[in-house]
Amino acid sequence: THEQTLDRDCRTLSRHVLQQLQSFDAAAQDLSALMNRIALAGKLIARRLSRAGLMEGVLGFTGAVNVQGEDVKKMDLYANEVFISVFKQSGLVCRLASEEMATPYYIPENCPIGRYTLLYDPLDGSSNVDINLNVGSIFAIRQQEGNDLDGNAADLLQNGHKQIAAGYILYGPSTMLVYSIGKGTHVFVLDPSLGEFILAIENLQMPASGSIYSVNEGNFWAWDESIRNYVRHVHRQPGYSARYSGALVGDIHRILMQGGVFLYPGTQKNPEGKLRLLYESAPIAFLVEQAGGKASNGTQPLLDIVPNHLHMRTPLIIGSQQNVELVESFIQQA
Ligand code: AHG
Ligand code: MN
Ligand code: MN
Ligand code: MN
Repeated sequence: THEQTLDRDCRTLSRHVLQQLQSFDAAAQDLSALMNRIALAGKLIARRLSRAGLMEGVLGFTGAVNVQGEDVKKMDLYANEVFISVFKQSGLVCRLASEEMATPYYIPENCPIGRYTLLYDPLDGSSNVDINLNVGSIFAIRQQEGNDLDGNAADLLQNGHKQIAAGYILYGPSTMLVYSIGKGTHVFVLDPSLGEFILAIENLQMPASGSIYSVNEGNFWAWDESIRNYVRHVHRQPGYSARYSGALVGDIHRILMQGGVFLYPGTQKNPEGKLRLLYESAPIAFLVEQAGGKASNGTQPLLDIVPNHLHMRTPLIIGSQQNVELVESFIQQA
């Protein structure tokens, strides 16, 4: 009915945050405003991606190399700046820590009152951007602890339980925003005609097990033998399917929706794996746990891991509980 359609179109993100918190106090209002800003960043990035092939300055490389040692894409930089601009005007965020910046960006005018820090991967899976395949943005919000006068943001080097909100935006056939503030994982879809993210799935519960395994088998001989044994086991089981897009957000969204497991194990070259703890693995682990799944580095719960520096990498095993525990059993046998 019309009424049902209108009701659905009114379940916007900012309202949903307040509804979950059952409160309108300052902290709730802050979180609602912060999520609104994330949504704005997502809309700005989605808009530019939709014109990638038609306008200058979207595709291709900048020629720079970032702190990760990666060739920076023009969209990496644009997306990084979108989040800075969006939060500059929010008054709530003092520091932004990003994959694309060696040290956090401070917004001085916000710092006396800025109580929050944004940790983000502005464009995840940027190798997909020039071939029009799915990319994403990943974010986590933490409370600033102390006044960080020495500017080294030491309070960020705490485990993933310090996240007060986390999620991702998936720029796919539709633009989706998946987030949690610790009260379940919820999926919103951007209605471009409204310019609003509308609630599509509330309190998503992922399947307890699934038949999808997602890993870059090109690294097969670079892994530990235990991971090779797990994959050999999976190859022998009927019914498993391999799905890997090269973009964490897209691969994780598939696992959240259909069950299964995603792995980025350590390799000989990168024993700690490739994925960065503070703004890739921890936010995603937060969401997956809120949806009933599990995340670890193979031996320890992912959210318990304390980073020793901003861009620390960890191996990641994440997805349906039963699938993750099967991988862990191979690692523990080693
Ligand atoms: P980013 O584009 O933000 O640097 O992240 C890329 C990551 C992640 O999205 C994906 O899961 C992984 O790189 C793929 O790495 P491989 O190409 O080594 O499989
Ligand atoms: Mn990158
Ligand atoms: Mn990434
Ligand atoms: Mn990135």
